[in-house]
Amino acid sequence: MEGYNAVIFTYGQTAGGKSFTLSGNEDQPGIIPRAMKDVFAHIRRTSTREYLLRCSYLEIYNETIYDLLAPPSVAATQPVQLIGQGILSPLREEVVTSLKSVREVMERGERHRKTASTDWNERSSRSHSVFRLVIESRERGEGKPRASGRQTPGLRPGTPRIQAADDNGFLITGMVNTSCL
Ligand SMILES: Nc1ncnc2c1ncn2[C@@H]1O[C@H](COP(=O)(O)OP(=O)(O)O)[C@@H](O)[C@H]1O
Ligand SMILES: [Mg+2]
Repeated sequence: MEGYNAVIFTYGQTAGGKSFTLSGNEDQPGIIPRAMKDVFAHIRRTSTREYLLRCSYLEIYNETIYDLLAPPSVAATQPVQLIGQGILSPLREEVVTSLKSVREVMERGERHRKTASTDWNERSSRSHSVFRLVIESRERGEGKPRASGRQTPGLRPGTPRIQAADDNGFLITGMVNTSCL
């Protein structure tokens, strides 16, 4: 929330519990929903600032990057490209305003993973996914609001951010950019 980069990365054999550790289920939430709960609690406590949270979710499968939040037909025909240093395009970003909306984004992405279909074991070792949260904030009343960013490039050089990833992978990225909301 203060602009530091952070990455959570899980690594291990198939069925070792990486996805469960990060996502969990309704009874036992994983690191991502727990972290998101803390993020929303922090925002509620910090009434002097305004925040914009955006999520993206991608899968690297056989060296190709797929946007898990895009309709599968679009993701299959328009793989995400790495443009320059660390910028991903086209990559959808969904604005989230509640834990419920984060869950919806995670569930949609998980349904689109290659490991969601057949040959689970075979596919799992080749599948790495990244869940990213971008956090932007500004003091209330400061600057002009900025349009929210679906299809905006992914990682913007020079902007503080937090990232979390697993091999299989999820990534949480928080970015604080006081010029944007
Ligand atoms: N701590 C846990 N408690 C209950 N079930 C778990 C736990 N860790 C993993 N599982 C279950 O084990 C299975 C494999 O875990 P998963 O997270 O998918 O492994 P990985 O992502 O490492 O391949 C899943 O069905 C998951 O729900
Ligand atoms: Mg997994």
